[in-house]
Amino acid sequence: MPLPWGHPDSYLQTMALIMQTSGIRKRYGSVQAVDGVSLDLEEGSCLGILGPNGAGKTTTIEIMEGILEPDEGTILFRGQPIGKDFKRKVGIQFQTTALPEFITVKETLRLFSAFYPNPRPMDEIVDLCSLQDILERDNRKLSGGQRQRMLLALAIVSRPEVVFLDEPTTGLDPQARRNFWDLVGRIKAEKATVILTTHYMDEAQVLCDEVAIMDHGRVLERGTPASLLSRHFTGALVKIPKGCIEGDMPESGKMVADYLEIQSTNLGDTMRELLAAGVNLEGLSIHKPDLEDLFIELTGSSLRS
Ligand SMILES: Nc1ncnc2c1ncn2[C@@H]1O[C@H](COP(=O)(O)OP(=O)(O)O)[C@@H](O)[C@H]1O
Ligand SMILES: [Mg+2]
Repeated sequence: MPLPWGHPDSYLQTMALIMQTSGIRKRYGSVQAVDGVSLDLEEGSCLGILGPNGAGKTTTIEIMEGILEPDEGTILFRGQPIGKDFKRKVGIQFQTTALPEFITVKETLRLFSAFYPNPRPMDEIVDLCSLQDILERDNRKLSGGQRQRMLLALAIVSRPEVVFLDEPTTGLDPQARRNFWDLVGRIKAEKATVILTTHYMDEAQVLCDEVAIMDHGRVLERGTPASLLSRHFTGALVKIPKGCIEGDMPESGKMVADYLEIQSTNLGDTMRELLAAGVNLEGLSIHKPDLEDLFIELTGSSLRS
């Protein structure tokens, strides 16, 4: 949605920044896991860090969470370097977490609530995270989607100001992913600031006010999904598999990964051009460009590869 003033990204300067990270670097042996990441986070917004496996997403957010020491760079929370106090202000859903065994969901919530001075009331958490039906279930018996709901509940027990979710829907089936999106929507509605990592572009498109696209430890692009897409694409995206092009390359196209891509503002003209160039239209697809296309455009490879 276009904003009423100036460049779509300029509103960042006018809002309160809750977190500012600059020049974050982290190396593991010969691997530069994070290679100079700077991200500002507006209060109440949802930032998505998008990237394939190994891009450096987990390392980046663990540094922002204050649980991993960067080699270089600074992290500010409300303008101050993060200290002991910060840990009480954040809620974290780790990419992998062990849950206590042999106790139920309800008992686990009680246990975690007891860690905090002012925990959210149990009813509220159960409601927010749709845990009604699994309260009496042993943690070991939870499905993937139930487990993620439970982990989200644990992340928000303390009423955190910033909630970190590391690939919260990886491995879930499409329905469970959509259910989880609803829950994140509820948390956003409560004005918490949310940072989530994902390699699902559709997830980012649905949940995030802003996305940072990461690959090889760096942020390649940052902005609202709409502004990123309009920065790189105009019109519809026409794609034709490489094998369908026999003669000359149509002038308006370019090769991206294994496809000829044309950004078309006039599909009639584009089709005529393709036919004139002798392109086999059999494998042609036309769609509105999305973040997945953008990722391929930026890196030449797909997110899942
Ligand atoms: N504790 C670690 N020891 C060694 N290498 C690591 C460690 N953590 C991450 N890495 C490496 O750093 C890179 C980024 O990892 P990570 O931040 O987990 O990426 P992502 O979350 O995007 O999949 C990968 O190449 C990974 O193998
Ligand atoms: Mg990760």
